[in-house]
Amino acid sequence: MLNIIPYPSDCREKQGYFELEENEVIKSDFDLSVFGLKTGESDRFIIAKNDKLESEEYTLTVSKDCIRIEACENAGAYYALQTLRQLSRCELGGKKIPCVEIKDKPRFEWRGLQLDESRHFFGKEEVKRLLDMMFMMKLNRFHWHLTDDQGWRIEIKKYPLLTEIGSKRKYTHINGWQSISTINEEYGGFYTQDDIREIVDYAQKRNIMVIPEIDFPAHCASAIACYPWLACRELEREVPGYFGGSIPERVYKMWDWNRTICVGKEKTINFVFDIIDEVCSLFPAPYFHIGGDEAPKNEWKKCPHCQAVIKENGLKNEEDLQGWFNNKILDFLKDKGKRLIGWNEILKAGNLDKSVIGQYWTAKRDKNAENHINSGGNLIMSNHKSFYFDIPYGKYPLKNTYCFKPEKFNVRPENIKNVLGVEGENWTEWIDGREKLDLCMYPRVQCLAEVAWSAEKDVNWDNFLKRLDSFKDYYRYLGINYAVDKVSMPTNPFTRLHINAKFMNGDTHLEVKLNKKYIAKGEK
Ligand code: ACM
Ligand code: ZN
Repeated sequence: MLNIIPYPSDCREKQGYFELEENEVIKSDFDLSVFGLKTGESDRFIIAKNDKLESEEYTLTVSKDCIRIEACENAGAYYALQTLRQLSRCELGGKKIPCVEIKDKPRFEWRGLQLDESRHFFGKEEVKRLLDMMFMMKLNRFHWHLTDDQGWRIEIKKYPLLTEIGSKRKYTHINGWQSISTINEEYGGFYTQDDIREIVDYAQKRNIMVIPEIDFPAHCASAIACYPWLACRELEREVPGYFGGSIPERVYKMWDWNRTICVGKEKTINFVFDIIDEVCSLFPAPYFHIGGDEAPKNEWKKCPHCQAVIKENGLKNEEDLQGWFNNKILDFLKDKGKRLIGWNEILKAGNLDKSVIGQYWTAKRDKNAENHINSGGNLIMSNHKSFYFDIPYGKYPLKNTYCFKPEKFNVRPENIKNVLGVEGENWTEWIDGREKLDLCMYPRVQCLAEVAWSAEKDVNWDNFLKRLDSFKDYYRYLGINYAVDKVSMPTNPFTRLHINAKFMNGDTHLEVKLNKKYIAKGEK
């Protein structure tokens, strides 16, 4: 068994080894500057263009005296080199590459990872570190959650208050959704448009498409704090520091606060188009994520503007008002050659255009998502129990991620082709920095990569665990605070109960502390 994650689809192991030389020169039809590799004349190491292969597909032949890679595009060539990187373990001191013949390509076209930078802001260097690991794992979609109630994190030239006011909050909720504790310090941060271009370019060089998520019509409190006319009622409110769905947030709502924009006002619709216009100029991806989840309809029900739109357009109810709003955005995006993505709640609207891509996240079964995919619509699968990386391992152990199967969600076999792929979600209400982000992501990202890339026949838990064991050398080499087995695969039900109770109220970082304790005891 080759020590590679994600496992390649077709490999034949041979006898013997190829010995790498210091400063090995590669004869390549592709630009390899992203790897810092030396190119030139060589008959020992060749990367050749082969137009018959698909864009991410590659072949890799290692014999005793030659390495030969074939690919159609950079993506395939780079993935071959990532496979070779793990075969040789060159960074870890490896010099010998086992002889092998590999023919490999991905199972899903959408192999994603999301980062919420609204609840906590990580900054460019952290994002690049994440992109580096995505590249190593052959993940190719970075979903960047840049706006939410608790902070607006992208510079918009036409509406400067979004970052002047909207990127800062006066306090931050701590200790879990049921807690009322806060840290009463200003918290903020945002990306300038130059920063965004730098990240998009960094990602693109690594075959990673960056998809921005700018949430409309809900999760807009930070924008409403800057421009109160965005809401149905023009209430003056600050950027909230309590997190969505929490007990304090629900109490806060009772104090007459709302976070949904008014879709009945032309001024608001123009604002949305202006934002999308500017954001699209920064992101070349043919997709735009508008969120659309958790959109309360209470304000719309009482708003004369919203009700007028319902009447004028003969809409059934407020759910269809969201559908109407989404269709408007969808048309606007279509003119730019982009498709709209939204969380699965948007599929409730009966009038929604079928060309939307739903992202299925809810823990509860969603028949609208099932109908969408089984009638030809596309879904990205981010199902809670497998792909919500912010939830403790105590609740969702590592195997949850590895054992994901779209069929479990009533996708009929003939409609599996409508699943664009899978994506892991890093919501950051309770992730305040690298230490916990690493712990939540690793080794889940390695499971995600294998579910996303490897052929179904090669997705095998026991076999994966053995390869994960040797992959841990990379975590240590890269300085990644991964969860050791005792944390990522907890067995004691009382410990699990304790972790989960504390996560809701008391201590959201218990697994970080446990992990440290186990590492000190020599656990791996
Ligand atoms: C979500 O977690 N509300 C998409
Ligand atoms: Zn309204």
